Amino acid sequence: MARCLIAVAAASAAVLLAVCDLDAVIAHLLALSAIFSSSPDALPLLNQQDLSRYDGEVGSQGLYLSVLGQVFDVSKGRRHYGPGGAYHFFAGRDASRAFVTGDFTEGGLMDDLSGLSPSQVVALYDWLSFYQRDYRPVGRLIGRYYSDTGKPTEALRQVEAALARGLELKAEAEADSKRFPSCNSEWSAAGGRVWCSEKSGGVQRPWAGVPRKMFNAGSRSIRCVCVPGGNPELSASAALQEYEGCPPLAESCTVHSF
Ligand code: HEM
Repeated sequence: MARCLIAVAAASAAVLLAVCDLDAVIAHLLALSAIFSSSPDALPLLNQQDLSRYDGEVGSQGLYLSVLGQVFDVSKGRRHYGPGGAYHFFAGRDASRAFVTGDFTEGGLMDDLSGLSPSQVVALYDWLSFYQRDYRPVGRLIGRYYSDTGKPTEALRQVEAALARGLELKAEAEADSKRFPSCNSEWSAAGGRVWCSEKSGGVQRPWAGVPRKMFNAGSRSIRCVCVPGGNPELSASAALQEYEGCPPLAESCTVHSF
């Protein structure tokens, strides 16, 4: 399928650039139109106190939870969210942050997302999509993400901007992993070996390439990638480095560490 470079203007006016094929663009647009907060709906508004009455305990009014201010009836998941369930702490509140930090202490169970990375925000929206798909939406929570008239707040706009940035980074990373597929690797007490083959990194291609260290400035990590052999332009790239002691065109290198 033909690849394209497109600019998608999302509902919040955040601009998402993605290198993608057309089907992926359409799927993304549909998903975004459902997810972004601006889509009008007539769901009732709840405040924190209302929501806390839906914690599934004896005498409570039901079993709800909220993600990014969107409230869902999770009664059909009672075994997870009801009293005694492994995820009961999510009931009757908005603990959006904990969905991506895994910090289930009282201090961690909060809706404030400050300091989270754009990729973590993408992961949180995956949870939101999960609830939209599997559970019934029952309201909007007045507070950090919705005003007392049900309008999206500035905080929600900022999270949506982080989502757009996170999706952009994800698209770039996916494009990168096709352009520079990962190497095969094996490790033993004596050391390690990295090598390229025509399907290393899960990318089937007509060339194997040569192993190079690739530095990712964003995550400050290094991964071994396969670069088409003898491409002087790529070999000169600051982000790519040869493995010490390995001939420039060798398809396999002995290494002591990544
Ligand atoms: C950030 C960390 C995690 C979060 C936020 C999280 C959250 C959740 C939630 C909300 C559910 C219920 C989904 C539903 O409504 O159907 C669930 C189910 C489940 N989680 Fe986690 N989880 C986390 C980590 C883990 C880990 C590390 C494990 C395993 C070691 C695990 C194992 C499971 C299993 C097995 C289920 C399904 C249980 C069943 O269907 O009976 N989770 N998780």
